[in-house]
Amino acid sequence: MAWTKQEQLYDGKSKRVHTTTSPDHVVVEFKDDATAFNGVKHALIGDKARVNQAISAHLFGKVAEAGVRHHLVEVISDTEWLCEKVEIIPVEVVVRNYCAGSLAKRYGREEGEALPWPLVEYFYKSDALNDPLLGADVAVLFGWAKRWELAFMTEQALAVNDVLRGFWSDLGVDLVDFKLEFGRTADGRVLLADEITPDGSRLWEKGTRKRFDKDVFRRDLGDLGDTYRELYAKVFGEALASA
Ligand code: TMP
Ligand code: ASP
Repeated sequence: MAWTKQEQLYDGKSKRVHTTTSPDHVVVEFKDDATAFNGVKHALIGDKARVNQAISAHLFGKVAEAGVRHHLVEVISDTEWLCEKVEIIPVEVVVRNYCAGSLAKRYGREEGEALPWPLVEYFYKSDALNDPLLGADVAVLFGWAKRWELAFMTEQALAVNDVLRGFWSDLGVDLVDFKLEFGRTADGRVLLADEITPDGSRLWEKGTRKRFDKDVFRRDLGDLGDTYRELYAKVFGEALASA
């Protein structure tokens, strides 16, 4: 690692961010904490940080091959990354291939309906407001994102979807939906930021529709640690090393 970790900048629900001796870089540290319903439900899940770090680094590598630029510079430990420092754009970009979660609830539709084409939705990133659905015009008029940034994030999110859908499908898993966050660098680039993990995705085993994502925790469907270790083994073809 080229820069040393300094003080903590931010302690989030599932990650911590530290400054470094470089003004343009931060250390992102994954945590074992799992939360749902905006922090109302909380638990520590052994191995979650290591599984999410490894899976997200792997998926960032895959999307980079398709030309999507992201903030990860280097994996520095089994729970830490060196990243480009970005200002997070407060627009969560959700891509859906099947109807589930808040889409099903909002419109009274069954979960599991295949969508005729991928749907992109925006949500305003605000814990205080519980991440409400966000229209593009509102995002622009309140200054949360520029019109071109919304267009760019949408295009990048659809490119990520193409890569990830194929990746998971090859492992016998349907990518139902996922959430991405983007950030601006000091020199004006927009990068894919945050993470791509089973915390922010819905992953259903083909056929059985067994859940391999955080809905196991949100909906009390089983043991999240076991689920994530099983997903790790699917992705890497070997069991996660014991801690
Ligand atoms: P939703 O159906 O609850 O809107 O969620 C869509 C996808 O976005 C799902 O894969 C979970 C993910 N997501 C997050 O990562 N963070 C959040 O705060 C929410 C609400 C959803
Ligand atoms: N990420 C949010 C929370 O931590 C909501 C969720 O994922 O269900 O509470």
